[in-house]
Amino acid sequence: MPVAHQGDSMKVNAWNEWDPLTHVIVGRADGTMVQAPEPAVFRDWPEEGFPRGTHGPLPEAMTAAANEQLDHLARVLEGRGIRVDRPRPLDFSQPVATPEWSQKSMFGAMPVRDVLVTIGNELLEATMSFRSRWFEYLAHRPLIESYFRADPDMRWEAAPKPRLTEASYREGFWDAYDALPPEEKIARVRRGELLLTEAEPLFDAADIARLGKDLFVQRSLATNAAGIRWLRQHLPDHRVHGVTFENAHPMHIDATWVPLRPGLVLHCAERPAEEELLHHLKVNAWQVVQAATPQRQAAPPLSACSRWLSMNVLVLDPGTVCVEAGETAQIEQLYALGFDVVPVPFWDVAPFGGGLHCATLDIHREGMLQDYFP
Ligand code: ARG
Repeated sequence: MPVAHQGDSMKVNAWNEWDPLTHVIVGRADGTMVQAPEPAVFRDWPEEGFPRGTHGPLPEAMTAAANEQLDHLARVLEGRGIRVDRPRPLDFSQPVATPEWSQKSMFGAMPVRDVLVTIGNELLEATMSFRSRWFEYLAHRPLIESYFRADPDMRWEAAPKPRLTEASYREGFWDAYDALPPEEKIARVRRGELLLTEAEPLFDAADIARLGKDLFVQRSLATNAAGIRWLRQHLPDHRVHGVTFENAHPMHIDATWVPLRPGLVLHCAERPAEEELLHHLKVNAWQVVQAATPQRQAAPPLSACSRWLSMNVLVLDPGTVCVEAGETAQIEQLYALGFDVVPVPFWDVAPFGGGLHCATLDIHREGMLQDYFP
């Protein structure tokens, strides 16, 4: 088992969401697009200038505001002695293609968490499930290459590149799904009858929550059962649990189920968990706390996220959490749970793909693999 050395921040090593963070990637907003429609997703924001079928860059003023908050986060982390790297934005407005399809635009390089996951000394590139995000790993490759050169123990892995042909998506999914009553949507989420077929393994890295030996992976609009099976086979030393929540639009686990320290998970009350999952935590003496109500009623314009970005926190060490500065109820709750809180303004980043956890990727945390559910 690889053992991390204190201060050894050139090593790739992170087994969970809470050990002391020493090296992190912080995303960039440059050139992020309202992506062109594709089988997996279409945007329809007529009030904001992007009616269904259109695409284009997010407005410059919004991009500048988001970059300011991202740069500020980078400075705050550096000020705490954490090494911060930044991806290289690509021209996301360009059309992309594989021999089997073409797509009129890419997306961006802000939510690093969606694309990559660090599991111990392994850095794993996810398959992704949107055509507009197929090439997003390229924004991170210069950094990954540099880590690979610097750390002889690093394992660099990439999940099978998906084909993302029409066969990967249920035909006419969105029109049929949007018309369903909420209970039926939830029933389909539970049965795994969502957008993605099981034609090939698909997952976004942000559907994975790392708790040492146990990995909780959400089946979602971006992650199918075959993707979870692939992860289980790929990580034989872990216990990989496929999970669902009562959420009609499941997409990335980190605004629903957020481990904060050994024994404590923050959970979104609007998205109840399966009994089995709660039981699993309870018998192991873990506490599941309902996250405080967000200050905001909704996410900002041009954002595909919900207001629950309030709980999308970045844990700096088991006693310190970085939280969006306007989420005062969430901050109070964390103080009450015994944490020190580092508030940072981050709301302008939401349209670029998420909150503090989404925007970052831990490359190195102190500590090693532990079994928290023995
Ligand atoms: N879909 C989540 C919500 O709106 C947001 C999660 C974003 N996470 C991410 N890694 N991009 O509640």
